[in-house]
Amino acid sequence: MTQATGQMEVRWRRFPDAAAVAEAVAERILSTAHQAISARGKFTLVLAGGTTPKAAYSLLRQATAEWGRWFIYFGDERCLPADHPERNSRMAADCWLDHVAIPVANIFPIAAERGSQAAAEAYLSQVEPALPFDLLLLGMGEDGHTASLFPGHPLDINALVVPVQDAPKPPPERVSLGLGALNQSRETLILVTGAGKREAVSQWRSGEALPVAQVHGLNGAEVFIDSAADSA
Ligand code: 6PG
Repeated sequence: MTQATGQMEVRWRRFPDAAAVAEAVAERILSTAHQAISARGKFTLVLAGGTTPKAAYSLLRQATAEWGRWFIYFGDERCLPADHPERNSRMAADCWLDHVAIPVANIFPIAAERGSQAAAEAYLSQVEPALPFDLLLLGMGEDGHTASLFPGHPLDINALVVPVQDAPKPPPERVSLGLGALNQSRETLILVTGAGKREAVSQWRSGEALPVAQVHGLNGAEVFIDSAADSA
């Protein structure tokens, strides 16, 4: 099912359960990486935080890929110490990055331990030269937020990296890619699983201007969703 949002389209891809979503996401990441490396010699991937992507990241631990040509960025980060278990960079490392041969120099965590303002300014200099990304992964919260862009907060369509001070999802201080960067990816996958997301999905499908609905990438966005979360 394809839903047009403005000039860009959202393509919904429904799967029976979260495990099937994870398998499809891992497969797409690997195929997009192969194509990007063949075409441009490198693959730039932006990771989603939270818990939804953990299963897909864990599947990638077993994969064979040209890891030396992968470059990893983060869609958002929580302002916590660098090795805090609640950090998105820690989650990705534990599930996947610490177990494959992607050079550390090719992984660009957000230095959110420095505080949202300083970290956002620093990340801007790393993100700008990386645009456009090859693949952006995002999750969606139960309120329709994505990365750390929350409903009721100002959304600057041109901002590349933004500090966040009063996030409703703890911790309150975060750093997020802004819509200016989130909409500069060749491919965009939004991962949505679980009954808790059903209401936000229904609002999204009804055209509500949720933060997640503002993300369309350079070629639209694909939503990989399980039956529990889909309201259609
Ligand atoms: C974060 C994430 C956030 C997440 C959604 C969904 O730092 O919390 O970046 O945007 O993707 O809140 O979280 P779950 O996958 O845990 O449902």
